[in-house]
Amino acid sequence: MKAERWEGVYSFEDSPFLMEILTELRDERTGPIAFRKGLVKLGRYMAYELTKTMETEKVPVKTPLEETEGVIVRDRRNVVIITVLRAAIPLMEGLIKVLDHARVGIVSASRGKAPKFEIEMNYVKIPEIRPEDTVIVADPMIATGSTLIKVLDEVKRYGKPKRLVVVGVLAAPEGIERIKSRHPEVEVFVAKVDRELNDKGYILPGLGDAGDRAFGAP
Ligand code: URA
Repeated sequence: MKAERWEGVYSFEDSPFLMEILTELRDERTGPIAFRKGLVKLGRYMAYELTKTMETEKVPVKTPLEETEGVIVRDRRNVVIITVLRAAIPLMEGLIKVLDHARVGIVSASRGKAPKFEIEMNYVKIPEIRPEDTVIVADPMIATGSTLIKVLDEVKRYGKPKRLVVVGVLAAPEGIERIKSRHPEVEVFVAKVDRELNDKGYILPGLGDAGDRAFGAP
């Protein structure tokens, strides 16, 4: 795990296996089945990495032979995953394999029409958020950050969690800057921070439209 230049922002460039999954996701020849599988795999390993930053507790455990000391990841019991439709569905599927106690919220958010391009949230189902919770907002592509800022605003209406974490595949520096200026306490875990956004709001070099590629439908 590599600390990026913003406080609380981490990437996984130092993990060859995660970089191999990312390479397959980037490859334009990767079809929807392999793309979805890649997102599930990436979600699973990023959740595993996230558990390394969670509070643990020593517990006694009795083997068939004797008593010894074991460990539980205490914070793993108090997780809420917010799935930002569409492309976060396979990412959430991976995250929940490790964070299997998680309560799951769903948010559908999209950019509205010109000239304002306001973010419209069409469906919001978020569970109660408790002080002991780690809330993970799953959104594969942190591009302009506009959707995420709106989603984070909304999530905060449901309670104040212990940690608020965004898990994604790729981020543009512009998106991170915007999120951090509006929600400085938010932690960001992404496979990689890419170079920049293009004038259509796509991350470069990126992987294209994650939703279209995961579901084969623009
Ligand atoms: N959303 C995507 O799916 N891809 C991008 O590059 C930017 C936003």
